Amino acid sequence: MATCRTHIFTVPVLTRTTLVFMGASRKDRAIARRTFLGFAAVFTTAGVVGTITTDNAKARAAFDEALAEWVASGEAVDESASAFSAAQTDAIAAAAEASTVIEVTNAEMLQDSATLDALRASLDALVAAGLLTIAAPGEVTATTTAPDPRSTPDVPEGREAQLAQAQSLTEDTALLTETADTSEQSTSELEAATTAALADIDAVVASAAAHGAAVEVPSLASQETKDAYAAAVAALGDPAAGSASQRIGAYQQSWTAVQDSQAAAEAAQARGNSGGGDDGVQPTYINGILIVNKTYRLPSWYGNGLTGDTLAAFERMRAEAASVGHNLWIASGFRSYATQVKVYNSYASRDGSAAADRYSARPGHSEHQSGLAFDLNTITEAFGYTPEGQWVAANAHRFGFIVRYPQGKEGVTGYIWEPWHLRYLGVDTATAVYNSGLSLEEYLGITSVYD
Ligand code: DAL
Ligand code: ZN
Repeated sequence: MATCRTHIFTVPVLTRTTLVFMGASRKDRAIARRTFLGFAAVFTTAGVVGTITTDNAKARAAFDEALAEWVASGEAVDESASAFSAAQTDAIAAAAEASTVIEVTNAEMLQDSATLDALRASLDALVAAGLLTIAAPGEVTATTTAPDPRSTPDVPEGREAQLAQAQSLTEDTALLTETADTSEQSTSELEAATTAALADIDAVVASAAAHGAAVEVPSLASQETKDAYAAAVAALGDPAAGSASQRIGAYQQSWTAVQDSQAAAEAAQARGNSGGGDDGVQPTYINGILIVNKTYRLPSWYGNGLTGDTLAAFERMRAEAASVGHNLWIASGFRSYATQVKVYNSYASRDGSAAADRYSARPGHSEHQSGLAFDLNTITEAFGYTPEGQWVAANAHRFGFIVRYPQGKEGVTGYIWEPWHLRYLGVDTATAVYNSGLSLEEYLGITSVYD
């Protein structure tokens, strides 16, 4: 249109100048004047129309451009909101776990209670960064809501309205861009807070494991509770064993069970000391091995079933024996003091005590009361000659057992050959005893004789 405007002035001026300089007549000059005025009118109208058209198109283009930028910044807001929402989901899970860990953890059962304080601080930071609310341990919700969807404005009528709308959209765009930037920043902070809280949860678990490994387990607690405690401490280092709060909860519960068992044993022991016949007898450990034979006896209150390790080792042995065609089962497992009273008395009244003493232990002297021994299949010497008995003699040590009363060792063990009676020692000790070819008494250099 700039070209048109130029023509409005240049064409008539050139025409008129040409006529004047050509020495035109009066009549010609009149014609030229009319022509000039005609051209001027036409070009002026065209210029005005062109200018209006140009300005309208500019307003529309400005509106379209502002709208495109507004739409793009709105999409950036939506993307950042969705990233924040994803980060918030992770943060909610971390806060739920952190708050539960704080709830269930007894600081006294940590090697370093400062780890729990650090977790409390990181949870506070996480809640602030994630705009979270904790109703109760493990119950976490978000306090924010997603932004409302924006509706795209219509193109307004008229140049002025379009320009005004373009201006307003541009202002909105600036606000939306700021919102997206802030949201991205919040997402980064939230992700960092989540990572920190998770690391602090791990630190609490590690501190519990360190404490669990270092603690001295009370000696009178039942083997079962001690085994369960050891397993719970080991599970603290195994994320596959459950969530951090579950593992810490199990660790603390198993410790309570150990203490309850110890307290019950002490109470029973106190009863025994005040006339129950135990005379303060304590379990005897030699080289870390619980010894029960004619020399060493258990107090009457001791024992409450086969230990977890013993049962698990038997199950492994049974399964492997089955895979090569041998059928093993426990014919007699744990026997309490009271049960052994009945068993021994029945044999003694049948065969006399001297004969019974060769194959049956007096109450308090039976390994069956330890929870670490059991009899397999058939309780007869013939078992030693069966394929099962021979497989057991050659393989039991690989699962942690020894044939406790070997053939030809009555002089040292105090008992005739019992190919069916196995004692759990753990794989290392059982293998060492097996390889030595000695009975346990010989291996440890101890006696087995009644007072
Ligand atoms: N038969 C074994 C020695 C016991 O009675 O414990
Ligand atoms: Zn036995």
